[in-house]
Amino acid sequence: MRTPDWRPALQVAHDAALDWLEHLPERPIRPEKSYHEMLEVFGGPVPEAGEPAERVVAMLAEAAPAGLMAMNHARFFGWVIGGVMPAGVAADWLVAAWDQNTASGEPTPAMSAMEAVTAGWLLELLDLPRSASVAFVTGGQMANLVCLAAARGRVLADAGWDVVADGLIGAPPVTVLVGDHVHHSVGRALRILGLGEGRAVRVATDTNARMRVDALRAALAAISGPTIVCAQGGEVNTGGVDPIAEIADVVAEHRRANPAWLHVDGAIGLFARTSPGLGPLLRGVERADSCSTDAHKWLNTPYDCGIAIVADAEAHRRAMTLRADYLPGVGSARDPIDWNPEMSRRSRAAAVHATIRQLGRSGIVEIVERDCAMARRIADGLRAVDGVELLNEVQLNQVLVRFRDPAGVDDDAHTTTVLRRVQESGVAYPTPTTWNGRAAVRISVCNWSIEASDADLAVAALAEAHAAT
Ligand SMILES: Cc1ncc(COP(=O)(O)O)c(C=O)c1O
Repeated sequence: MRTPDWRPALQVAHDAALDWLEHLPERPIRPEKSYHEMLEVFGGPVPEAGEPAERVVAMLAEAAPAGLMAMNHARFFGWVIGGVMPAGVAADWLVAAWDQNTASGEPTPAMSAMEAVTAGWLLELLDLPRSASVAFVTGGQMANLVCLAAARGRVLADAGWDVVADGLIGAPPVTVLVGDHVHHSVGRALRILGLGEGRAVRVATDTNARMRVDALRAALAAISGPTIVCAQGGEVNTGGVDPIAEIADVVAEHRRANPAWLHVDGAIGLFARTSPGLGPLLRGVERADSCSTDAHKWLNTPYDCGIAIVADAEAHRRAMTLRADYLPGVGSARDPIDWNPEMSRRSRAAAVHATIRQLGRSGIVEIVERDCAMARRIADGLRAVDGVELLNEVQLNQVLVRFRDPAGVDDDAHTTTVLRRVQESGVAYPTPTTWNGRAAVRISVCNWSIEASDADLAVAALAEAHAAT
């Protein structure tokens, strides 16, 4: 076996990673170079001859940072994403070095056992049925897909149809109900599963984007046959949490006469269940048939790690499992291939396992509670600024605002300008959205490292951009 000298390239990567991480607080958060500039940096003809690994890594380490966003900065408030922590990053490095294909369990007992233990820990931390099955997938998108695949199979089986064997052609129609502010990833999952994004029945939501139970009850009254209700634990703009326990009651009532499944998209908010204070907001998820979340959001693990949790493990397995004679040892250990849509894959559980060990339950609760407190601090700070309109009730870690044009001409244009100024300042990085058809600014507080001073700096940067002419 040829043995390269691993050290030079890994040493360069190690030093460059430390340089990036240790200098994060001083970096402007936005990238300094554009996509087109970075095309120039990395472009050129296909290399005909190779070059030493350490030179390659040095080139990447030198060139890339100018085109990187400091997404793991405490004042990066874009989308809904956390920032990495030491144990998670280091575990991910080891995963790359160990080079384990974690499709099946027996060939890689360490990875498979780590995944099994981590799945159990998550069920305990989130206080979900311990018999539920868990899949470590790429993100909230795939977690929704896996859960809804299990849902589709189960409600159709209960209607006497085997979708695994026979597909959807000729199957009884499945009605999917979603809130008016359903996340787009649910729509894409419905598309991929052949359930049709456009066919979903949309249920009215309240001013904080929460599904209205009276509207759900009325919609279900007009529906019979296999039914899937998609609730959500944290809406992407407002962080609004559906009244899940009440929704579970309504679905249970519907289930008396119809095959029915309740899925909760908890990509944003599920980890709030770890907190004694915030957990009650997500009461009822333990009664859902499935729920999804992201470790790379509130657990602050590296990408890519979504988590699908299904109460009916058999429905989950039937939707995902794969068997082939050439796969050795499948079946005697926990086989990730039974629960995920992929075959070959890296271990995702290792970084989750390491992050949970680094934080412990108390550390996870602390992040969740601090992020929510910082979101409230930012909301309070902005509420006190003349001309700032707070658009949401801050239930979790999301703040939604718009800025009234001091000249009274165009609030949308002014809001967009305020956002651009703050992003360009490099001090904080909120991202845009629209709310009720008007421009708005989202501030998503998901990072483990935020402190009160960061929240105050963000408020000051937004207020200054709003006041600038
Ligand atoms: C409510 C909700 N569901 C699903 C997703 C998709 O998650 P991911 O980007 O990890 O696929 C998101 C992403 O922000 C989300 O907010």
